[in-house]
Amino acid sequence: MSMQGSVLAVGKCLACLEFMLFPVWRGIGAGNGVGVGLSQTWARCLRWEPDSPGQGARLPVFDYLVWLVLCHGGCAKLREVCQRGRGAIKLPTDMLSIKLPQLFDIHQIPKVFREDGIISGYRHPRSSALDCVLSSFQMNNETINIWTHFLPTWYFLWRFCILHSALNFLTDSYTWPLLVYMLVICVYPFTSSCAHTFSTMSAESRHICYFFDYGALSLYSLGCAISYGYYVMPDHWVNSFLHQHFVLIAIGNTLFCTSLSCYSRFLELQFPQRSKVLRTAAFVVPFVFDTVPLFYRILLCCWEGCSASDALSNHSYHVIFAFLTCFLFTAHLPERLAPGRFDYFGHSHQLFHISAVVGTHFQMEGVIADMTSRRAWLVAHGVMPSFQGTIGTLVISLLLNLGIISVFSAPLLWKRCCSSNSMHKTPCEYKEQ
Ligand SMILES: *[C@@H]1O[C@H](CO)[C@@H](O)[C@H](O)[C@H]1NC(C)=O
Ligand SMILES: [Zn+2]
Repeated sequence: MSMQGSVLAVGKCLACLEFMLFPVWRGIGAGNGVGVGLSQTWARCLRWEPDSPGQGARLPVFDYLVWLVLCHGGCAKLREVCQRGRGAIKLPTDMLSIKLPQLFDIHQIPKVFREDGIISGYRHPRSSALDCVLSSFQMNNETINIWTHFLPTWYFLWRFCILHSALNFLTDSYTWPLLVYMLVICVYPFTSSCAHTFSTMSAESRHICYFFDYGALSLYSLGCAISYGYYVMPDHWVNSFLHQHFVLIAIGNTLFCTSLSCYSRFLELQFPQRSKVLRTAAFVVPFVFDTVPLFYRILLCCWEGCSASDALSNHSYHVIFAFLTCFLFTAHLPERLAPGRFDYFGHSHQLFHISAVVGTHFQMEGVIADMTSRRAWLVAHGVMPSFQGTIGTLVISLLLNLGIISVFSAPLLWKRCCSSNSMHKTPCEYKEQ
C-alpha cells in the first residue's frame, strides 16, 4: 500500500469512527463524516493576522477581545463576515507558545451540545483534557460558568477554615451538622466548575460530567436537610414525627433527585420539554422539602409578628435567591429573547450560578446564626446530633449517589468502548487495503 493510500485509509477510518460516535454530525458534513464537514469549514477559514509583523509587541489576547467586541457590536459588514466564518476564525495565537482552542458556532456542533439561545463560543466537542483546562482562560460560552463556581468554592473553603479555627469540629458533636453543610457547599460549586470545564471532551463525558454535577447538587440538598433538621427546625416542631424522620426522608430525596436528573439527560434530544420538566422537578422536590421548616418559621413570624432575628433575615434572603435561581434555571432568560447576544456574558446559566452562590451565602449565614443563638435551647430539648445522623448519613448517601451515577454512566462508557473496538473490523478499513 502506498504512503498516500495508507494516509487515505487512516483518514477514511477516522471519519468513519467519528461518523459512528457522532451520528448527528452527518447533517453538518452533508452526507460526509465529520472530518470532511469540518475541513470544509476550515477551508472557509478566515485568517486574521496582525497588521504587520513588526508590531509583535501587541497582545494577541487583546486583539482577540477587540475582534469579539466587533463581532458582537454594531458594524453590519463585519457581522456578515462573522456569520460566515466566525466559527473558523484563525486566532493570532501563534505568538503564544500555547495555542488556544478554536471556537465554533451552533450549527457546527452535534445536537447534544447545543444550548437554546447560544449561537457562538462553543468549544470543540472532542477537546482534549488540556484544551478543556486551557479553555477556561479563553473567552468562550462556558468560561464565566466555570469561574462563577470556581471562585465561590474558595470563598466557602475560606469560611470553612475560619469556622474550623473558631469551633471544635472534631469533638463537639453539636457542630457536626454544620461540618456536613460546609463540606457540601464547598463540593457542589467545585464539581459544577469541573463539569463545565471537562464537559466538551465527548458526548459521553458531557453526560457523565453533568451526572456528577447533579449528584453534588443532590448531596447539597442533603447537607441542607441535615443542618436545617438540627438547627433551623421551628420550636413547635422539635421532636415531632417530621423532625425525627427529616434526615431519613432527605436521603430518599437525594436518591430520587440524582436518579431522575440523570435519567432526564437521556430524554433531552427526543423530548426536550419533558426532560426539562423532570430535571426541574428532580431538584425542586428535595429543596422544597428541606425548606418547609423554614417557610413555617418565616410565615409564623409574619403572622404573629416577631422581632426579625439575624438568622431569619438571612434565611429570607436565601429563600428569595432560591426562587430566583429556580426561575433562571427554567426560564432561559435573557438569551431566549435575543439569541446570540449573551453567548459569552450574561446568559441564564451564569446568572443561575451567581444567584445560587449568593443564595448559599445567605443560607450559610442563617444556619450559623441559628446554630450559635439556639444552642442552649436545642440542647435543653434533647436535640443532640449523632455521628450516624450527620457524617455517617453523608458518607452513606455519597456512596449511594456514586452507585447511581455509575449505573447511568456504565452504558455510555460501554457503548463508547464497544464502538471504538468494533472499528478495528469495520469494512471501511478493509476496503482500502
Ligand atoms: C457551551 O458550549 C459547549 C460546547 O462547546 C456546550 O456543551 C455547552 O452546552 C454550551 N454552554 C452554554 C451555556 O451555552
Ligand atoms: Zn452549571
